[in-house]
Amino acid sequence: MFIVVGVTGGIAAYKTVQLVRLLVTGGHDVHVIPTDDALRFVGLTTWEAISRNPVTTSVHEDVSEVRHVALGRKADLVIVAPATANSLASMTAGLADDLLGTTLLATSAPVVVAPAMHTEMWQHPATVANIATLRERGVHVVGPADGLLTGGDSGPGRMSEPEDVVAFALALFTGDLDGLEVVVSTGGTREPIDPVRYIGNRSSGRQGAEVALAAAARGARVRLVAAHVDGGVLDAASRHPRIAVTRVGTAAELGEAVRAASADANVVVMVAAVADYRVAEVSDRKLSKEDGPLQSLELVQNEDILAGLVGSRRSGQMIVGFAAETATDADELLDRARRKRRRKGVDLLVVNEVGWSAGFETPDNRVVVLGADDEVAAEASGTKRQVADALWDAVLAVRAASN
Ligand SMILES: Cc1cc2nc3c(=O)[nH]c(=O)nc-3n(C[C@H](O)[C@H](O)[C@H](O)COP(=O)(O)O)c2cc1C
Repeated sequence: MFIVVGVTGGIAAYKTVQLVRLLVTGGHDVHVIPTDDALRFVGLTTWEAISRNPVTTSVHEDVSEVRHVALGRKADLVIVAPATANSLASMTAGLADDLLGTTLLATSAPVVVAPAMHTEMWQHPATVANIATLRERGVHVVGPADGLLTGGDSGPGRMSEPEDVVAFALALFTGDLDGLEVVVSTGGTREPIDPVRYIGNRSSGRQGAEVALAAAARGARVRLVAAHVDGGVLDAASRHPRIAVTRVGTAAELGEAVRAASADANVVVMVAAVADYRVAEVSDRKLSKEDGPLQSLELVQNEDILAGLVGSRRSGQMIVGFAAETATDADELLDRARRKRRRKGVDLLVVNEVGWSAGFETPDNRVVVLGADDEVAAEASGTKRQVADALWDAVLAVRAASN
């Protein structure tokens, strides 16, 4: 999961170092946003080292990335720990005078706060009212615990232990795909010509990685079979506790891995761009011009993995295909997609138009989802994550209709 941890200026900030560590070792992609005051307690170096991500407090850094909203939009979960009396007041008022404030306003992810302060501050009517307002808005409050406080006194106000905050926050993610076993393929296969060269395609693997991450964020257990992907595309998925990644190279390897992973799966989503053809005879040594000019490469057709999965699916298993098509207009795109869906026999076919500048290597996508009746079941556009979530909504609708 992509988790933002806001740290505000209380002594308990030292406990949040352990909290971040627990999340990182749990496989999450953690982005720490300290307030300026928090950095008086634990320094930026510690947060960067422990989270393994760059850390900034200011809205004026990395402006080109529109960081003041980007982190909030990407987040699956935001935890503010410790949450000072001041930060709770800022949140209640909707203040946006630092990166944490803008992020909290920009996010639609669940927000968990772990208050920490002296008992008098916690019990002050202002704090009590702020907490009530935040709860009303859906903010989750964990703690504070009753115990020893910094001044040597004791009472409610102590930040909950990092393990408890993590357990509380992650327990929120019993999503609508909870208990579902899912297989997703992604990336582009590479068919070798010789030890150096291959026939490949432009798939970056981003859409498939987002399909896997979205499913995991909604509670599914995911097996992600990844052919070649662009650098960094699998980082978050490989750290996710509910995603197991298998790397493959060729179409044959991908087919084998997907079939093995699919045995117990409820849903199989084939996003990978799989080569239709491979080279008939792969040379053991690098082809050289010294051997004379290469006249042609003989190709043979690869197996149709998707059709094979449909043919051997167990009862109740859903198979979803992706089709990247070039077309002159929307009608031609849909015609091609309908023919393909019928040929493959999939339950849902996600169609996206590709071209020299569309579909591949971009953060956004636009798709049409065809149902088993060849009607448009859903249309989605936006980030590849938004498209992934729309796809899972369509999968759930089909499962609900068939139950
Ligand atoms: C040593 C020390 C410890 C503090 N501990 C807390 C605390 O636990 N809870 C709290 O609400 N404020 C605490 N404060 C006060 C906050 O640091 C202060 O309200 C600050 O403005 C909070 O800024 P922030 O919420 O933007 O991080 C402490 C201040 C100092 C100097």
